[in-house]
Amino acid sequence: MSEYDLGRFVKECRERIEENECPADCVEKIAPSMSRLLNGDKSFLEARHYRSDTEHYARNAIYIDDAGELSLFALVWLPGQWTPIHDHGTWGVVGVLEGMLEERSYMRTDANGRKALSGVELARGGVIMLSPGAVTSFVPNPDHIHMTGNADPSRRVVSLHLYGRTMSGFHIYERETGTRKWVDVSHNES
Ligand SMILES: [Fe+2]
Repeated sequence: MSEYDLGRFVKECRERIEENECPADCVEKIAPSMSRLLNGDKSFLEARHYRSDTEHYARNAIYIDDAGELSLFALVWLPGQWTPIHDHGTWGVVGVLEGMLEERSYMRTDANGRKALSGVELARGGVIMLSPGAVTSFVPNPDHIHMTGNADPSRRVVSLHLYGRTMSGFHIYERETGTRKWVDVSHNES
């Protein structure tokens, strides 16, 4: 059998989505596929997928389906580049290709409801260090809240991010103002 590649990964993801309505089931079934992709034929990754930006981490589209049910990006994090604190509004599966991706988790502790846009209070949670080959995932309702980035001053991080929707924006949190707001995020086309 030929080596596992992007085509097989996308096909498996589609099948898992068809079979599993529950987001937690989706990520449980797709996480092993992401692991196989990280260890398989990575010839689908081209120079354009490794584009970086000195201003902020770069999002390079690899695959976005027409139905809006699936999108895959290569994210390139230069030293010191981080997301804001955010949630996703969907499930996702992340795999690390290169470098050490760090995730810092948060928990919402106010009584205003998890979707309220003001009066937000967050408690800091734990930290996860993800080395090449590692796979992590998240589910919505309630949304996982975190920030992700590259704390290593000496090298870039490259990671694959699969989402259960076309990922064009997310909610970000500002601890200083106690707010949660939607922001659009851009990406480089493939
Ligand atoms: Fe995230």
